[in-house]
Amino acid sequence: MPDPTGTADLLAALSLEEKAALVSGRGAWDTAAYERLGIASITLTDGPHGLRLAADEEGTGEFSLSNAVPATCFPTASALGSSWDPDLIARVGEALGAEARASGVGVLLGPGVNIKRSPLCGRNFEYFSEDPVLTGRLGAALVGGVQSKGVGACVKHFAANNQETERLRVSAQVDERTLREIYLPAFEHIVTTEQPAAIMAAYNRVNGVYATQNRMLLTEVLREEWGFQGAVVSDWGAVADPIAAISAGLNLEMPGTHGVSARRIVEAVKSGALDEAALDRAVAGVLRLVQSVPHTRDGADKVDFARHHALARQAAAESAVLLKNENSILPFDPEAQLSIAVIGDFAHEPRYQGAGSSLVNATRVENALDAMTGIAGRSVTVTYARGFTQAQDEREPELHAAAVATAAAADVAVLFLGLPAGDESEGYDRTHIDLPQDQIRLLEDVAAVNPRVVVVLANGGVVRTSTWEQHASAILEGWLAGQAGGAAIADLLFGKANPSGRLAETVPLRLEDTPAYLNFPGTTDSVLYGERIYVGYRHYDAKTLPVSYPFGHGLSYTTFAYSDLRASVEGEGDDVRIRVSLTLANSGTRAGKEVVQLYVGDPIAGVDRPARELKAFAKVELAPGESRDLEFELGARDLSYFDASEHRWILEAGEFELSVGASSRDLRLCETVTVDAPPRARRLSLDSTVGEWLADPVGAPVLISTLSGTGSSFQNPEIQRMVAQVPLGRLVTLTGGRIDAAKLDRLIAITSPDTPSR
Ligand code: BGC
Repeated sequence: MPDPTGTADLLAALSLEEKAALVSGRGAWDTAAYERLGIASITLTDGPHGLRLAADEEGTGEFSLSNAVPATCFPTASALGSSWDPDLIARVGEALGAEARASGVGVLLGPGVNIKRSPLCGRNFEYFSEDPVLTGRLGAALVGGVQSKGVGACVKHFAANNQETERLRVSAQVDERTLREIYLPAFEHIVTTEQPAAIMAAYNRVNGVYATQNRMLLTEVLREEWGFQGAVVSDWGAVADPIAAISAGLNLEMPGTHGVSARRIVEAVKSGALDEAALDRAVAGVLRLVQSVPHTRDGADKVDFARHHALARQAAAESAVLLKNENSILPFDPEAQLSIAVIGDFAHEPRYQGAGSSLVNATRVENALDAMTGIAGRSVTVTYARGFTQAQDEREPELHAAAVATAAAADVAVLFLGLPAGDESEGYDRTHIDLPQDQIRLLEDVAAVNPRVVVVLANGGVVRTSTWEQHASAILEGWLAGQAGGAAIADLLFGKANPSGRLAETVPLRLEDTPAYLNFPGTTDSVLYGERIYVGYRHYDAKTLPVSYPFGHGLSYTTFAYSDLRASVEGEGDDVRIRVSLTLANSGTRAGKEVVQLYVGDPIAGVDRPARELKAFAKVELAPGESRDLEFELGARDLSYFDASEHRWILEAGEFELSVGASSRDLRLCETVTVDAPPRARRLSLDSTVGEWLADPVGAPVLISTLSGTGSSFQNPEIQRMVAQVPLGRLVTLTGGRIDAAKLDRLIAITSPDTPSR
């Protein structure tokens, strides 16, 4: 194998002790350096929506999440996920990469592409979606953007890290099909399309084995199957046993362990407990990483923070989701005669990011109140009342009364509501999905004095709307919108921007309806992924449950018309290509963006499958009256399910339903296509059931003719149905020997000549 980086020479020049020191960090955020060999130290730091580089970092090597250098705080992933816009997210990635590069950061710890299994996960604000295809496309865009600046991206947290409760100990008990169809595809898509410089192995265990020590995940799936070339880095403090981790495929343990891990590794190599070749593999990965990313400061003064702030504003505007807009109460006309009561602490003190390792020291922060006042024309008056404090869920009688009075005196009330910062964070999970009671009471009292109410929400994880939304004519979900979120909200309220965000997760009617309700967060030891593949809309659709707002939903100030859906199939089996085309028109009076979503369902399948699954989407901007032809292409994988018994994707021949629409429950056009695939070659054995034999084109006739001659009533379809689930070998006992073992052995010999009969 060619070795352009000279890794082999370096490996030979490093002592065992030096190699052991290279596979764990030097301090909190850096790797070890060997000047004599030209091996530099690189910095790895957070995070997904903004650079969090500890300002006092240099020299101290201490672990610190505070006192970070100023950086642009972009909207968090739950907002960006709602943009459904890979191009926009790529630009955010470029900006993140530029800021990281300027500060000499080699690897940015993000994006986080864990699937939102439950709305209770305290860290959902750092994740994109409940859907693997959407997550994968958006995560890949962010990685592409960051890496276009030469900085490495570290995709996290691999894998099945879907809760904060017991995150360092819990084992995610998840079956292989569910892993493959829900929790791994986003990582797979990013690895196979963008080759991220690094993947972060998660804290938790997966089916009993720590993710950092999981050979199946780190070596078999990630490297051997997906062809990952980068380095596997542990989450901070995720390594329980460095020897097991190196053997499983980990490259770099972070943060440093003050030499403890290195000493254990040296001893293990000397005693033979760790194969030195495994250590060399780990070191080689670290060397390649160090050589491929920046390690010197480029000068933060080169960063165009003003441009990045403008991008943060655009990203926030594209990410907000207009959930409802009765009587087109929005947008406000900035030139109208209008008095607007702006109510709620969040209008003045925006909550624009979440807590934990992703906390950014924003370069500046804009609030919605000032931005609204700035946009409002002379005839618009904007008044403000705080209404409540964010810190506690207690009625503040004076603030409350003043807010109601302010609302009563205005034409329209805009209430800025949201989750207190303490309700969601890295490190712990949520216990409910409700807004604080004092905010809901304020909304009720405001609505009693002024029927024209708009609610603007600030929250990372989803919040329930069903208990209060009857009091609001419009709801604009702003998420944690980053440092320019206030300005973006003002742009949207006044129609300077047209809402184009779509829900990347379902808003349920109540917590009890959510997929993992009975299995979240599990016990100290383990959490059972009992809902299997039925996560997010797959669950609500399978149970035909009503929801407040479905996955993919979001309104615009204009309207869109869908027409001319066409689908053609070329090829078959693994080579099948389905071309789907349609025409989209802006049928309203404003320019706007629609997110066209393509879902696939397989109504008759050999296994249970979701009613429909998102397979492709496009965000399209159209002027009023403009129309555009769109085309999507699907391949075999888009139609397949993962078979855990054969450990592979299976495409079944037959009909597939293609639906195109504006949300998972607003499907405008449908088409059915028929796909050919070779019959599944099953290896039939005595353990295969009678039903499996009968489903097999080779096995069925042989079985029927063999058993018909036994005097049994096997040709009777009722009998066949009754015994369909019986493994063939059991027929010897169950028929009292009338079907004898020798006959069955002959049967195996005919259908699978190379299988030993017993
Ligand atoms: C988080 C990671 C983060 C790391 C470094 C961990 O606690 O889970 O997402 O990148 O800390 O700050």
